[in-house]
Amino acid sequence: MINEFEDKLLIQLLELQHGAIEISELKETCSQVDWAKGFPESKEAFWNCAAFMWQRKIKKDKREMIKLEIQNLLGTSKHKNIDIGSGSYSYIPSVAFDCSKKMLDFNDSVLEKVQGDIEAKWPFENESFETVTAVFVLNYLKNLDLVFSEIKRVLNQNGKLIAVISATGVTGLHKAQEKQQRSFESWKELFSNYFAVEKSYKKDGLWFFCLEL
Ligand SMILES: C[S@@+](CC[C@H](N)C(=O)[O-])C[C@H]1O[C@@H](n2cnc3c(N)ncnc32)[C@H](O)[C@@H]1O
Repeated sequence: MINEFEDKLLIQLLELQHGAIEISELKETCSQVDWAKGFPESKEAFWNCAAFMWQRKIKKDKREMIKLEIQNLLGTSKHKNIDIGSGSYSYIPSVAFDCSKKMLDFNDSVLEKVQGDIEAKWPFENESFETVTAVFVLNYLKNLDLVFSEIKRVLNQNGKLIAVISATGVTGLHKAQEKQQRSFESWKELFSNYFAVEKSYKKDGLWFFCLEL
């Protein structure tokens, strides 16, 4: 059941998206809604609010292109995949791991949903996945050393990580959440400190990295 504050918040989020109001005007309403308390500073609250706008942010043909690239890199046979920062859409069958309950609620393409922080120890056993996908998320994470150690811990032998990063960076509301602004070469160099870089290439405004243990 949506209460009167949630109702007001959803309208204000639409207004925010169209530049009709400022973030400061939203804070009061957010403080009345459990899942939005602490917006925009709290990352969980931020991404819960962003969930209502995110679905339309990435066009269907771009999603399809990313899906095909991931399938080309991993092959089409089934892998036990964990999609970190899955948001409201996962490109291949996955365990979705995300801090935002609202994002996960919208994600109906997954095998299992796990709510949690990618920047803390993950609630998964060692070597429990064959592949990891990270699409449009690594630039929002500060502690990449911990994140890459967790990826290496949960991947089994010959495991692979596919990272997809937008070449154009982040604009608008999401800018405040961005923690990494790196060039293609800088990402590649960073990855090579933790993984073997099997493939790295640019395509249609996106950067793709296929990384092996
Ligand atoms: C820009 S969205 C990308 C969503 C999805 N991968 C896609 O391609 O549409 C970033 C996602 O990462 C999640 N996220 C950001 N920081 C996180 C963290 N520290 N722990 C868990 N999830 C996080 C957000 O909740 C959001 O769903």
